[in-house]
Amino acid sequence: MKYRIPFSSKSIDYTEEEMLVIKDTITSLNILTMGNKITEFENKFENFIGKKNAFAVNSATSALELTAQLCNFKKNDEVIIPTHTYTSSCYPFIKNGAKIVWADIDLDTRVVSDESIINKLTKNTKAVVVPHLYGYFKDVRTLKEILNTKNVLLIEDAAQAIGTSIGDDKVGTFGDFSIFSFHSHKNITTLGEGGMLIVDNEEISKEIPKLRHNGHCDFDYSRNEYWKPAMGNLDISVINNEMFFPNNYCITEVQCALGSILLDRVYDINSSKRRRAIRFIEELKEFDILNFHKVDSLQHNYHLLAAYFNNHEVRDRFIELMANEEGIQCAVQYLPLNRYDFYRKLGYSDSSCQNADYFFDRMVSFPFHHRLTDNEIDQILSSTKKILKKI
Ligand SMILES: Cc1ncc(COP(=O)(O)O)c(C=O)c1O
Repeated sequence: MKYRIPFSSKSIDYTEEEMLVIKDTITSLNILTMGNKITEFENKFENFIGKKNAFAVNSATSALELTAQLCNFKKNDEVIIPTHTYTSSCYPFIKNGAKIVWADIDLDTRVVSDESIINKLTKNTKAVVVPHLYGYFKDVRTLKEILNTKNVLLIEDAAQAIGTSIGDDKVGTFGDFSIFSFHSHKNITTLGEGGMLIVDNEEISKEIPKLRHNGHCDFDYSRNEYWKPAMGNLDISVINNEMFFPNNYCITEVQCALGSILLDRVYDINSSKRRRAIRFIEELKEFDILNFHKVDSLQHNYHLLAAYFNNHEVRDRFIELMANEEGIQCAVQYLPLNRYDFYRKLGYSDSSCQNADYFFDRMVSFPFHHRLTDNEIDQILSSTKKILKKI
């Protein structure tokens, strides 16, 4: 079906200046990967979020794979993860040997609740993954204190939450590991794919370049004939006497050059999305069958705009009428992970996450990418009002 306003789109159009950066980088560089641009991007990102040890990689999933690998799970280690998130928040931990324990969301904030995590902590808990889903940050300050006392790692999945802050500190600065995504749909995108990993521990962070790039590192260049037997050395990463195999999670120089300049636009993009979202929520206030998230912070980045209906038949009818009568494609996301065949086959079909199930079965996600014009936002709003009056 061809929609007047489809749900999905690349998130942004590049400006002329950004297009020039892409062209100039391609034209001027001899080598298109692992050069100065990655370092520039990482330095700029560190300044942007206010924390050291940022490592650019080819996707947020790769950043999560590295995180999971570095957790170094042993038999019976558990990781607590909400069912209501994207699959990449979860499967790298299973792949690297952890047992998953599901946590639930809070219906008002739409993100994982402290209570549901705390109830699931055991002596086997090694890590907790907190996704700041939809660009609605999860306030992790209390949780972090509790996890610190129990020696449990905090992993912030900030794939959707670039530029949001909790108090005075940016999302992604609280975790032992934090990750960001520059995938095509995210508020900024480095040509469709890209990610960033932030590592708190200095010793671990020294190993990331090797783990990211096939174990490559320098020889000791002070020795004679350093070019023999090869131009560069290879070494295995050793942390706390344990060995870690490398990967290839490199991101290209063109993506990094673009990423650096895009960081200058994050606040503009976020505030324009926020302004639109707040207007949208305000104008639909009179319809109490539709529940937007209830938080009083103005710091969310509204990567997505989601709400839930009181009743799932009404939700289904709403989506159908928006599509068939108004040509506007709304979506339903994220199916709780325990309900996917993938997780069922791995033995994770059971969960007691009632809020996540309740929310998913009644939720609607409106088209909300940054490329929508003001006129299209007006159309979505007026069609929503029209259909809400009808159902
Ligand atoms: C919450 C969350 N975590 C992780 C990812 C993975 O990001 P990437 O596509 O950059 O691998 C995504 C992507 O949609 C996401 O939404």
